[in-house]
Amino acid sequence: MSLQEYYEESYRREQNRGAADLLREATAGAKGLYNFAIESKERFLPDVDWKGLRVLETGAGRGGVGLLLARLGARVTLVDFSPTALAQASEVYASEGLEVETVEGDVVHPDLTLPHRFEIIIDSHLLHCLTEDPDRASYYRLISDHLTASGIFVAESMVHRKSLSIPDGFMLDQRSVLWQLLGSWTPVRRILDSLALEEELNSSGFNIVYFYYYGQLGFVPHRSFLDLPTEILPAAVRLVVKNR
Ligand SMILES: C[S@@+](CC[C@H](N)C(=O)[O-])C[C@H]1O[C@@H](n2cnc3c(N)ncnc32)[C@H](O)[C@@H]1O
Repeated sequence: MSLQEYYEESYRREQNRGAADLLREATAGAKGLYNFAIESKERFLPDVDWKGLRVLETGAGRGGVGLLLARLGARVTLVDFSPTALAQASEVYASEGLEVETVEGDVVHPDLTLPHRFEIIIDSHLLHCLTEDPDRASYYRLISDHLTASGIFVAESMVHRKSLSIPDGFMLDQRSVLWQLLGSWTPVRRILDSLALEEELNSSGFNIVYFYYYGQLGFVPHRSFLDLPTEILPAAVRLVVKNR
């Protein structure tokens, strides 16, 4: 099973949950990155207002961060390769009377183009789902091509820490790719060292204006990691980059 099929199936399993339930879930996990997006806008785009600001959320799922920003007046576009996730997002936004534009597409496909440039592009946990180098390079090009001149890319991503525990049914290879047994072994996450991630962003032509390692945050890549203590889970980085 591919990662795309895996996501599509997991969103489909939740098809029958009502909009209120989906809304609660979409926003609950989004608050931390939402607050970081607010701080980043105040710092790097202090002169623009949220009202009418164009925001893109990549690998949006149900678009939780975008929804919180839409409440402030931002014009939000979501891109994801799961049509079911986007349909659920549309339902959730409509339940609050908010507009949202959705684009079904694979962010690593070199031909993907989006209908605007954006002042803010938000990546809530997508980057670490892109396991292959050429795919990550394509994604960075998509970001770079769709930022306005002053635009910022704001992301939260999983990174490596010295001692990681890997449960049965998963393996971590030398390229920091986490594989999961989904029928056959499937690459599901790229858990780079934070220094390697910084280097990758630099060599992709971005100007890193904020990069912070959050050792106290433990990322749970899958429910099989749920019982593990933070010290042996992947850590998190929050980052902001601009085009050079
Ligand atoms: C870990 S989930 C994060 C969902 C949501 N942003 C959040 O923070 O809850 C990754 C999301 O990215 C989407 N995704 C993964 N790879 C993608 C790709 N290559 N192109 C578009 N969407 C992708 C999945 O469908 C899924 O919705």
